[in-house]
Amino acid sequence: MKSGKTAWRSPSNIAVVKYWGKKGYQVPANPSVSMTLTKCCTETSMEYKKKANSASPSFDFLFQGEKNILFEKRTSLFLESAINALPSLKDLHLNIETSNSFPHSAGIASSASSISSLALCLIEINRQVSGNYENEEQFFRKASHLARLGSGSACRSIYGGWVLWGEISGIEHSSDDYAIPLSDSLHRNFINWYDSILVVNSGVKQVTSSQGHTKMESNPYKEIKYETGRKNALASITALKTGDEKLLRKVTEYEAASLHSMFLLSDPPYILIKPESLQIINKIVRFRQDSGLEFSFTLDAGPNIHLLYPESIRDMMISFIKSELILFCEDGMWIDDIMGKGPESIQK
Ligand code: DP6
Repeated sequence: MKSGKTAWRSPSNIAVVKYWGKKGYQVPANPSVSMTLTKCCTETSMEYKKKANSASPSFDFLFQGEKNILFEKRTSLFLESAINALPSLKDLHLNIETSNSFPHSAGIASSASSISSLALCLIEINRQVSGNYENEEQFFRKASHLARLGSGSACRSIYGGWVLWGEISGIEHSSDDYAIPLSDSLHRNFINWYDSILVVNSGVKQVTSSQGHTKMESNPYKEIKYETGRKNALASITALKTGDEKLLRKVTEYEAASLHSMFLLSDPPYILIKPESLQIINKIVRFRQDSGLEFSFTLDAGPNIHLLYPESIRDMMISFIKSELILFCEDGMWIDDIMGKGPESIQK
C-alpha cells in the first residue's frame, strides 16, 4: 500500500517487581512483573504516505493537538531505533497525533503508554506496507519487542492483566527481548485488581528514568538489587499462581523500598519521595493493622503512591482513601484506575 492509517489506544502499567538497571541496550538487569492499567492510557493515530527512497522516515508530530518539542524528540529517537527492525519505515512520511487520557501534569510516567501505542501503530503500518500478515500472537510479540527499544516498561503494556518481562529459567517464552502475559494459571484472587494512584506531587521528576538507570551502573549495591529482583520476580509469579496475596504484598512493598533505597545509595544520593508520601505510607500501615485487610502499595521513580487491591475490598479502600489519604494529595488529586485487557485498535 502507498498510503494508509492506523490508530491504537495503549495503557500504562504499574510494576510490582521493578525494572531498574540495564545490562546492555534496553536489556533489563532483572525480570520485572507488572499489572496493566485501563484509564491511564495514550491514543496514537498515524497516517503514512510512501515517499522516494530515503535514509530515514520523516514525520509531523502533534501532542494533544499541539507541537511538543520534548515528545517529538523522544518519538524521533524511537523511530531511529525502530528502523533496524522495520526497514520499510525509511520510505515513509508519517503524520503522528497522540494524546494522553491522564492529566499532563499528574506526575504519571507516560512513556509506557505512549511508546507502546507508537510501537503498535508502526507494526501495523509495517504489516500494511510489506503485506506480511503475521498471526495475532506474532503481531503483539513484535510490538512488545519494538516497544522495549523505545522504553523498557512499554514492552509490558502490550498485554493486559499481569505481565512478565525478562528471562526466567523454567518459564516458557520468558525473554529479555519482549514481555509475555501471565494469564495462564492466574489465581482468581488476582483478577480485577484496582490501582488507586495518590498524586502527591505532579511536578516534573528531578531525575528521569533513563538518568536513574544510568546511575545504577555505578551503584555499589546493584548486584544485590538485581539478585533480589530475580528472586522477587519468581516469588511474585508463584504468588499470582497460588493466590498468595500476602506474598505478593511482601514482594511489592520490598521492591518499592529497594527501588527508593537505590536512589539514596547513589553518588550523589537523591530522594524522590515527599513528606506526604511518608505520611500516606504510615496511614496505610496503620489501616492495614487495624482493618486486617490484605492489599499492597508501591511507588515508581517518583513520590506518588499506588494502592493495589482486589475488587472484594473496593468499598473499604475507597472510603479509606477519601477519609484519610486525599488530604495528603496535591489538590486532592487521585486517579482511580483498574486492571485492563491491554491495548485496543481504535481505527476511526
Ligand atoms: C521505576 O521503562 O521508563 O517505572 O527503558 O529507560 O525508558 P527506559 O526506562 P523506563 O523505566 C521504568 C522504571 C520504573 C520501574 C518499572 O516500571 O519497572
